Amino acid sequence: MVCTLVVYDTHYGNTKKVAESVAEGARSIEGAEVVLINADEVTQDHFIKADAIIMGSPVHMGSCSWKIKKCIDEICAPLWMKDALQGKVGGVFATGSGYGLAGGGCEIAMISMLANFAELGLIIIPFPKSTTGYDLGGVHWGYYVRTMDNNFKPTGISPESLKAAQLHGEYITKIAKSLRKK
Ligand SMILES: Cc1cc2nc3c(=O)[nH]c(=O)nc-3n(C[C@H](O)[C@H](O)[C@H](O)COP(=O)(O)O)c2cc1C
Repeated sequence: MVCTLVVYDTHYGNTKKVAESVAEGARSIEGAEVVLINADEVTQDHFIKADAIIMGSPVHMGSCSWKIKKCIDEICAPLWMKDALQGKVGGVFATGSGYGLAGGGCEIAMISMLANFAELGLIIIPFPKSTTGYDLGGVHWGYYVRTMDNNFKPTGISPESLKAAQLHGEYITKIAKSLRKK
């Protein structure tokens, strides 16, 4: 058995939609138990039980959202004191409007979550460019998708892109499972 925790923040539902796909991918691994939960509701127990932690944030003002940071500081930081999350695997994803074609801060949003993961002692799993759908906006730090066009009109998320999110969840869970066996 392997347990994957998918924790996300969302305002408009885009990051939640991606989180659902990531969770679906994780569930495709035999023996996987998957917990999909909002950052407002996640507890220390969820983190302790997980073998893989996958965290997703909307890009807010060029970085991750305050609710994700609150989760890290209030839920995870006390676990850091006990090294309780050390050796688990971790990956990230983000959604953003991406205005200006420069990503709108998606890299900083993902790197800030990964920096926190490194502090917690997690084994960081990236988003390899060989992943089907990477060309739709993949960034090596994690899965990323634009949810607005250049006129700030919501675009939704294509099924092809959601498939890439699914593969991200599957890949991270597969690695967590292989490490757990040893
Ligand atoms: C307060 C706020 C700040 C935002 N700042 C950025 C930003 O700096 N860069 C960006 O690309 N998108 C930014 N956005 C757009 C969101 O990241 C984007 O719409 C995202 O997909 C929303 O995710 P959600 O539907 O899960 O809430 C911002 C949205 C809000 C509400």
